[in-house]
Amino acid sequence: MTPATLDDFERLAGEVMAPGPFGYVVGGAGDEVTLGENRAAFHRWRLRPRVLVDVATVETATTLLGTPVAMPVGLAPTARQRLLHPDGEQAVARAASAAGLLQVVSTMSSDSLEAVAAASSGPRWFQLYVHKDRTVTQRLVERAAAAGYGAIVLTADFPVSGRRERELRDGFALDWGGLGNFPDLGGVEFLPLMTALHDQRLAWTDLEWIRRVSGLPLVLKGVLTAEDARLAVEHGCDGVLVSNHGGRQLDRVAASVDALPEVVAAVGGRAEVYLDGGIRRGVDVLTALALGARAVFVGRPQCWALAVGGEAGVMQMLGILRDELVNGMQLLGTPRVADVGPAHVAPGLPSAVSSR
Ligand SMILES: Cc1cc2nc3c(=O)[nH]c(=O)nc-3n(C[C@H](O)[C@H](O)[C@H](O)COP(=O)(O)O)c2cc1C
Repeated sequence: MTPATLDDFERLAGEVMAPGPFGYVVGGAGDEVTLGENRAAFHRWRLRPRVLVDVATVETATTLLGTPVAMPVGLAPTARQRLLHPDGEQAVARAASAAGLLQVVSTMSSDSLEAVAAASSGPRWFQLYVHKDRTVTQRLVERAAAAGYGAIVLTADFPVSGRRERELRDGFALDWGGLGNFPDLGGVEFLPLMTALHDQRLAWTDLEWIRRVSGLPLVLKGVLTAEDARLAVEHGCDGVLVSNHGGRQLDRVAASVDALPEVVAAVGGRAEVYLDGGIRRGVDVLTALALGARAVFVGRPQCWALAVGGEAGVMQMLGILRDELVNGMQLLGTPRVADVGPAHVAPGLPSAVSSR
């Protein structure tokens, strides 16, 4: 099968991946209510197209914290990408660079952050999990700054791991030795290790320290409420990433796209607002932009594409999303990213919702 959509990559990945790793990537926490809602909620919004707009030329380019990118879509951080392909994060780095897109590299990458940077010629941010031993974290963010990462993306929704029951059922527990940024760790299970290392005492007052030691702009990932969005801005965050970790942490929280409007309103233009969770279509991107996101990030689709075709697979996946976005912008009557606004989206009628 030639993949025509991002979901096709999931089907193809299911054919090439062993059940354990596949379940680890596709699964969510608990009953996977939030995982399903991340997609379903997009289906409940309706686009409001304008006609007779000159769409002969479409420009998808935008900027993220001042950095030019080819479209308002980036690669979300996902851990240990060599689980999917031997080239791991370096393959994603090459694909993202070729496409002119932003890659967010996980603290828990297979390759060291320096190795990923060496493979990248494009914009990249570093996703941070804060270690109980702050000297480890300080060293990590200093390395990220030295390696040319343009911002720190602090993941705030992972004081402990969510309960991912597919992994329990599959008995899937990797020995996650070989983490590129922590070459000394090995022979231990990954999720208990993550919980043991993460600082559950991390608090708003720590943000200032992270900004200081990194010297980089700070994006807070995992915000779902107006209250936390306001605190993020008050504590100097440059960006707020509306995310429920792809439904992998607390189940039954809101779909990202449903949390987006209250976060956008609370931020009030004082920081850039991004979204991840359930982005599978160009029209998902347009819906998020219309609701006030500056850009969106894709998580699982890059994992599937990487598993299916390595660097070429990720390129192909990003090309499909770009084609869908361009097509959607032409049909919505919005030739530039900045043209997409609140008037282009409305809640779906209840009848349309209940017929699904
Ligand atoms: C396999 C996998 C690993 C992930 N690892 C990380 C990680 O290391 N750090 C992080 O902040 N988020 C991580 N995430 C969450 C993603 O960054 C993102 O929030 C989520 O995947 C977006 O939802 P989507 O998969 O529906 O696009 C991971 C997600 C998946 C699927």
